[in-house]
Amino acid sequence: MSLETIVGNIKIRNPLILASGVLGSSYSVLQRIYEAGIGAVVTKSVGPVSREGNPNPSIFALKDINGAINSIGLANPGYKHFRDEIKILLENNVQTIVSIFGGDVEEFNEVLVGLSDLSITAFELNLSCPNTEKEGMVLGTDPQIVRRIVENLRKKTESPIWVKLTPNVTDILEIADAAIKGGCDALVAINTLKAMVIDIYSRHPILGFKRGGLSGSPIKPVGIRNIFDLYEQFGEKIPLVGVGGIAKWEDVFEYILAGASAVQIGTALGIAHPENKIRHIKNNIQKFMKNEGIEKIANIIGGAHR
Ligand SMILES: Cc1cc2nc3c(=O)[nH]c(=O)nc-3n(C[C@H](O)[C@H](O)[C@H](O)COP(=O)(O)O)c2cc1C
Repeated sequence: MSLETIVGNIKIRNPLILASGVLGSSYSVLQRIYEAGIGAVVTKSVGPVSREGNPNPSIFALKDINGAINSIGLANPGYKHFRDEIKILLENNVQTIVSIFGGDVEEFNEVLVGLSDLSITAFELNLSCPNTEKEGMVLGTDPQIVRRIVENLRKKTESPIWVKLTPNVTDILEIADAAIKGGCDALVAINTLKAMVIDIYSRHPILGFKRGGLSGSPIKPVGIRNIFDLYEQFGEKIPLVGVGGIAKWEDVFEYILAGASAVQIGTALGIAHPENKIRHIKNNIQKFMKNEGIEKIANIIGGAHR
């Protein structure tokens, strides 16, 4: 029995990947999580220049439903400062997927090219950021822009390119199709859902930025539905990585049966002792596979479609 899985041409020792952003961008934390047994890590999204975060509070826990709303946005040190952290991770053999963002094609190019001499496991494109030319419009909601960005980057690196999709669109399949036509190697779904919380006593939005993104258990059914639809449409063409609301080992299988070759875990690792959580999920995945006679992950990917 093996927990190994393959996403495109990348072998990952097990299907669990740390999702972007939740545990920040310091190499020591990511390395610790990898040493605890996670299959791979995704860095916090890094852009062309250092950016301050949105005003505090920028994260609000929804304890009763095991979720969170955050407006951390694209706070990051800029790729030039981040290079050294990535280098250390790669030198220590941590499978590192680097999440990058930009406000347009040129900014994406600059970041990717600036890091492309490192043997990065894969680049993950965070397209949930505002277009610098069309203020307020999120890049990942326009199929033409998505295709242009991916097509451009495809020519600039040998490393695999994963495209992370936002669920805040009318038709995620249209965006996925554009990313595939642009030449990406895997699709990652989903990023957070548009959300907000208001304090009824002060009568003000709770987050400093007012609006935020919902993550954690409440979004799992949305993620499952998106992966199910993506697999039905593109399952033969492109590997899928499922993300959204994974907190238990059962959730991992649900995503795999919907069509994911691997999964990412965010909020659940942010609100619990992450090392313990990873060990617990991994042990139970192993037990379940043994009990169910599942030899390898690949045998059940997309199983809910058969
Ligand atoms: C605090 C926080 C920061 C995040 N930062 C990023 C980020 O920098 N880039 C990105 O692509 N997604 C980011 N995300 C989204 C997660 O990677 C993930 O797609 C989302 O939270 C759904 O997964 P989850 O329910 O397991 O958290 C962030 C989420 C949270 C909660």
